[in-house]
Amino acid sequence: MINKKIELNFTSAKFSELNSQEQELITNAKSALLKAYAPYSGFLVGSSVLLENGEIVNGSNQENVAYPSGLCAERVALFYVGSRFPNVKINTIAVSVFSKSFEVNDIISPCGACRQVMAEYEDKQQKSIRVILHSPNDDVLIANKVKDLLPFMFKSSQLKRH
Ligand code: THU
Repeated sequence: MINKKIELNFTSAKFSELNSQEQELITNAKSALLKAYAPYSGFLVGSSVLLENGEIVNGSNQENVAYPSGLCAERVALFYVGSRFPNVKINTIAVSVFSKSFEVNDIISPCGACRQVMAEYEDKQQKSIRVILHSPNDDVLIANKVKDLLPFMFKSSQLKRH
C-alpha cells in the first residue's frame, strides 16, 4: 500500500484586502444575486466571470418548481460564456451569496456539479481559472485554480476510445 498526499492551496482574506479588480468582480456577483430566481430555497447566489478579453458575464441561480430543472449561478454564467465566447479564456469567477430566509455566515461553497463544469473549462483552455468565494460577512476564499477545489475531477480523456 502507498499513501499519497496532495497539496491544495487557498488564500483567505477580507474583501477590503483585495485589489480593485477582485473587489469589482465580487461587487458584480453581489448585484447579480439580486436577480436570482430562488423562491424555493430563498438562497440567492450570484456569480461574475471575468474573461481574458475583459468581458464580464454575470449569472444568478434560477430555480424551478420541478426542482432539478433549476441551475446554480456558476453554471448559468459559465454556460453563457461557453456559448457566447467559446474561444475566449476565462480568467476568474467570483461567487457570492445572500439569504433573507436564514443566516449565512460562511463563504459560498460551489456544488460538485459546478466544480466539475469549472474544471472542464479549465482543462479545455489549458489555463488556470481563479475562483473567488465570498460570504455576506465579507470573508473571501481564493483558489488560484479549479483543481484545488476538485482534485479528482472526471476528465474527458477518460471517455476517449482506444
Ligand atoms: N446554488 C448556487 O447557485 N450555487 C452554489 O454554489 C450552491 C447552490 C443554488 C442552487 C439552488 O438554487 C440554491 O442555491 C439552494 O441550493
